Amino acid sequence: MHVRNVSMKSVRLVSQTMSTSVYLETFGCQMNVADSERADVRLRAAGFDLSTSPEDADVILFNTCSVRERAAHKVFTRIGEVRRQRIGSEPVVGVMGCVAQLEGDSIFDASPLVNIVAGTRATDRLPQLISRALQGERRVLDLDERAEGEVWDVPASDRTSKHVAFVPIIEGCNKFCTYCIVPYSRGREKSRLASDIVAEIHALRSYGYKEIHLIGQNVNSYRPKTDDGLEGFKGATPFCRLLRAVAATGMERIKFTTSFPRDFHPDIVAAIDENENLCEWIHLPVQSGSDRILRAMRRGHTAGDYLKRIDAVKNARRKMSITSDIIVGFPGETREDFGKTVKLVEQVGYDGLYIFKYSERRGTPAAKLDDDVSREEKAARFAQLEEAQRKLQQKIYDRYVGRVLDVLVERPSSKSERDMTGHSTCHKVVNFPGDVSMLGKVKSVRVTAAKQNSLYGEIISAP
Ligand code: SAH
Ligand code: SF4
Ligand code: F3S
Repeated sequence: MHVRNVSMKSVRLVSQTMSTSVYLETFGCQMNVADSERADVRLRAAGFDLSTSPEDADVILFNTCSVRERAAHKVFTRIGEVRRQRIGSEPVVGVMGCVAQLEGDSIFDASPLVNIVAGTRATDRLPQLISRALQGERRVLDLDERAEGEVWDVPASDRTSKHVAFVPIIEGCNKFCTYCIVPYSRGREKSRLASDIVAEIHALRSYGYKEIHLIGQNVNSYRPKTDDGLEGFKGATPFCRLLRAVAATGMERIKFTTSFPRDFHPDIVAAIDENENLCEWIHLPVQSGSDRILRAMRRGHTAGDYLKRIDAVKNARRKMSITSDIIVGFPGETREDFGKTVKLVEQVGYDGLYIFKYSERRGTPAAKLDDDVSREEKAARFAQLEEAQRKLQQKIYDRYVGRVLDVLVERPSSKSERDMTGHSTCHKVVNFPGDVSMLGKVKSVRVTAAKQNSLYGEIISAP
C-alpha cells in the first residue's frame, strides 16, 4: 500500500500489493503502554500490519521514557542495535513518547537513522506521520497537542493486553516536583470525562475483562471539566466519585495507580471499604522521609502529613497493601536525611518498594543544584535501603502463607514450564501449577511459600 520514496543511493522496494509492517517497542510507565496500545489500533485501522520483530519491519517505532538518564539513553542504544541489524536495508525509524517530546528535532541530528519524532500527544496522527516518512520526507516532526475531542478509547476486541486493561483517566502533571521531567514531557493535567471512562469499562466488562487499572501520573488529581457520568455518586473529591462510579459498573477487579500524597483524601479509603471490587492496593510514593528533602523536592507535604494518610489506609476495614517509590541521593541529602527515609520505610512496612538513585534531568529546577551525593554513596544508600526493605518484606510476605488469594491468571511463568503467574487483588505476584486453559480466569490460590518478590501456591477452586 505504502511505497517509500527511493533515494538514489539505496533502492528500497516495498511492493504495492503488500502492506507496510510496523514494529513498535515500548519503554516507560503504563501511560506509554496505554499510548502504544492505542497507536497499535490506529495503525491497524489505517491498513498497516504490526510486526513482532524489528528485523524485517518496514517501520520501527520506539515509544520512549525520559524519567531517568538511563531510561532516556536506552532508545539510542536500541537505535544503534537496529542500525547494525539492518545494514543494507533502510527502515523508517521513529521516536515517540517522552524523549521525543523533550528532545524534539535534535534527535534527527543525534541519530541520522531517525525519520520521525512524534511527541506524547501525537499518537493519533502516527499513520499520517509514517506515510509522510514513507513518501520520502526525511524529518517528520510532530510535538503538537492532541486534537480537540480526541477519542481515547481502545476497543476491547483490539487490545494487545488480553487480561488486564489499562484505562487512562488523567494525563500530564501540574506538580513540578523539582527533580522530575514528566510535567515537561507530558504537559498539564487533563482529565477524561467520567462518562467516557465508565462507558469504556462497561464495554471491557461485556467483552470479558476481569481487571482494569485506572492510570495516570496522579490519578487522584482527577478533575474533569464537567460532571458527566459522576451525577448521583457521592465522594469528597471528583476521584472519589469516579471510584464509586467505576465500582458501580460491576467490573470484577479495579486497581488504580499512581496516587499523589497531597491529593490523597481519606474518602478514597472509604470507597475501597464500601466496594469489594475496588482492590485493596494503594501505590503512594513518598520519595523521602526527610522534611528538608521533601521541601527541596517541592512535594508539598511533610513526612508527618504522609504518615497521616498511611494511618487512614491502615485503619481501613479491609487490610490494604501499600507500595511506594523512593529517590536516594537527591542533591543535599545527608546521611541523616537518608536515615529518616529508612525509618519511614520501617515505620510504614511497605508491601513493595521501588527505589531509584537520583538522576539529574536537564531543565528541571533540581538540575541547578549541586548533584553532590557521590555515585558510590548513592549506590551504598540504595543497597542499604534495599536490604532493609528485603527484610521487612519477607516478614510481610511470610504472613501470607496459608491464606487464600484470588489470582487473575495472566501468563505462563517464565521460571517454570508447569507454572502460571498472575496478581492477587492486593497486587502480589502469585505463581502456581497450572496451564494455559486458565488464562484470563480468576482462581483461588492457597499460598504455600513466600519468595522474595512473589508468593507460591496451589489452586483450590474447581477448574
Ligand atoms: N507521579 C508519580 C510518579 C511518576 S515518576 C508521583 O509523583 O508519585 C515515577 C517515579 O520515578 C517517581 O515516583 C520517582 O520516584 C522516580 N523519579 C522521577 N524522577 C526522577 C529522577 N530525576 N531521578 C530519580 N528518580 C526519579
Ligand atoms: Fe513527577 Fe512529581 Fe508529577 Fe509525580 S507528581 S509525575 S514525581 S512532577
Ligand atoms: Fe517515563 Fe514519560 Fe512515563 S518519562 S515514566 S514514559 S510519563
